[in-house]
Amino acid sequence: MVIVSKNDEADGRIVVLRGAFRDKNILRFHTDIRSAKVSSLKENKKIYFVFYSKKRKIQVRAEGVAVVNFNNTITKDAWEKTQIISRKCYLSSQAPGEFLEESASNLSKDFESNLPTKEESETGYKNFCVIESKIKTFEWLYLASQGHRRAKFDLDKNNSIWMMP
Ligand SMILES: Cc1cc2nc3c(=O)[nH]c(=O)nc-3n(C[C@H](O)[C@H](O)[C@H](O)COP(=O)(O)O)c2cc1C
Repeated sequence: MVIVSKNDEADGRIVVLRGAFRDKNILRFHTDIRSAKVSSLKENKKIYFVFYSKKRKIQVRAEGVAVVNFNNTITKDAWEKTQIISRKCYLSSQAPGEFLEESASNLSKDFESNLPTKEESETGYKNFCVIESKIKTFEWLYLASQGHRRAKFDLDKNNSIWMMP
């Protein structure tokens, strides 16, 4: 889950983690440049992530600063690697979050059951952006019946400290 805020309002949504660059402390996801989260990030670059692994019983909460990549080398490279089935999501003429007269999918009728050709999918690039977030700090929480454990990591200061869960 990713959380952004604009003015004094915060808003969260699920995104797919597309990259985690350990050497640069950067997390990456893809989105539509027309979406509300992007306009929030343009106003306030602070971004928060929440992850939970049921298998490992670990929650991670991270905070960082986001950069909206649009029509640059990062987006070109990511778009080339994006499969046509995922490119479909960027083809709509209507922006995410627009109100509709009646229920409709995010795809044009043609592409609800058919894939676009690679050439047809290229028009989606104008809506495609890559959000890269430089993580500053994160909190790790491990859940266990013998007692939970919690720690905070500061990546800029390169230190960490145990916390009361
Ligand atoms: C499992 C799942 C994965 C999603 N992955 C993404 C994603 O990678 N990028 C994205 O923009 N939206 C993704 N969404 C949709 C967002 O949660 C959100 O509803 C949408 O982007 C609209 O956000 P907006 O309020 O900024 O318009 C995903 C939703 C679900 C349920």
